[in-house]
Amino acid sequence: MEPILSDGYHKKSDDICEDVCGGKTSNSPFSMPRVGCILRGLDMKTFIFLFMIVPIGIVGIYFHGQKVTYFLRPLWQSPPAPFIEMTHYYHENISMANLCKLHGWGIREYPRRVFDAVLFNNEVDMLKIRWKELYPYVTQFVLLESNSTFTSLAKPYFFALSRDQFKFVEPRLTYATVGGRFQKGENPFIEEAYQRVALDQLLQIAGIDDDDLLIMSDVDEIPSRHTIDLLRWCDDIPEILHLQLRNYLYSFEFYFDSKSWRASVHRYQKGKTRYAHYRQTNYILSDAGWHCSFCFRHISDFIFKMKAYSHTDRVRFSHYLDPKRIQDIICRGADLYDMLPEEYAFKDIIRRLGPIPHSYSGVHLPEYLLENADKYKYLLPGNCRREG
Ligand SMILES: *[C@@H]1O[C@H](CO)[C@@H](O)[C@H](O)[C@H]1NC(C)=O
Ligand SMILES: *[C@@H]1O[C@H](CO)[C@@H](O)[C@H](O)[C@H]1NC(C)=O
Repeated sequence: MEPILSDGYHKKSDDICEDVCGGKTSNSPFSMPRVGCILRGLDMKTFIFLFMIVPIGIVGIYFHGQKVTYFLRPLWQSPPAPFIEMTHYYHENISMANLCKLHGWGIREYPRRVFDAVLFNNEVDMLKIRWKELYPYVTQFVLLESNSTFTSLAKPYFFALSRDQFKFVEPRLTYATVGGRFQKGENPFIEEAYQRVALDQLLQIAGIDDDDLLIMSDVDEIPSRHTIDLLRWCDDIPEILHLQLRNYLYSFEFYFDSKSWRASVHRYQKGKTRYAHYRQTNYILSDAGWHCSFCFRHISDFIFKMKAYSHTDRVRFSHYLDPKRIQDIICRGADLYDMLPEEYAFKDIIRRLGPIPHSYSGVHLPEYLLENADKYKYLLPGNCRREG
């Protein structure tokens, strides 16, 4: 069987060359070399391929190379280990003793003290909504701001400039500024780490002590009030617990998933607890609040944030900062950096391709936002147009 099969194969490849060159080649080794055969076969289609498709492909890779890489993420990056998701129970009319019991915890005689510590950039509106949400249960609000962004751009002390909007927290506020180091060309994560260390020191000044509850999260990662109330009242909660938040982009009109996990709550331990924004435990409490990214009032805030963002490589073209483009993207729920979603499976990438669908739910949003809907209209469904 073998020899016959192999003969058949060779016969076939000869036939192909004959077809391409339009005639039978001679048996002599000096006539019609293979290369010539191939060149003679260069027809119109090949020229189109070489001089149009290839350049278009190169230009395409230049503009969309990042997309190709991101689309192939499932091949080059494996997903982080999954969290152990803890069921979260809540109803406004269930007693705290029962809520603790539902979670497998007991209730304390008195609640823990709560410290909410943030590094502030320029998210004035988010900060107000956050602090109003947490106000009833927070002992000390701790805020640190730098005159440098993580990417070493000089910035004003925005909190100091708008401090009169935050009179309601003054008696519970520990505020400080820290000078940036302005190291050109340095990895932005180093400046970020430096600021977080300074925040640890500020927490000491604020008087934090063992077993106090410490919230570590960015300003726009807002735990819901009842979540913090639960965690301050129940006894055997984990030492460290991540909070799973609902992810929104630009406003509460664009809800895209519930996978925000960076926020965490700690039972403070002197000399051990360090302010961090990465994964610190496997435990995560389900449905514990909101993460509203790029939820800014002014287009200029978007531009500032895009420049100040840790991943500067994302602003690849200057037209990304064009206000008209940004406004258009906000209203469509599209991506400011024209990137693909960060997912680890092809089916998830494909499911999330294109703009985020509009949501018309205003149920279970932060109370202060709804109480002051006219002031924060741009955060509610149907109001994507930003002020000048
Ligand atoms: C809430 O619970 C109380 C009893 O604890 C009951 O009287 C009241 O009707 C309940 N309210 C609602 C809205 O279910
Ligand atoms: C930032 O603040 C530090 C400390 O207050 C100061 O020395 C420095 O000049 C400031 N830099 C800029 C660019 O404002």
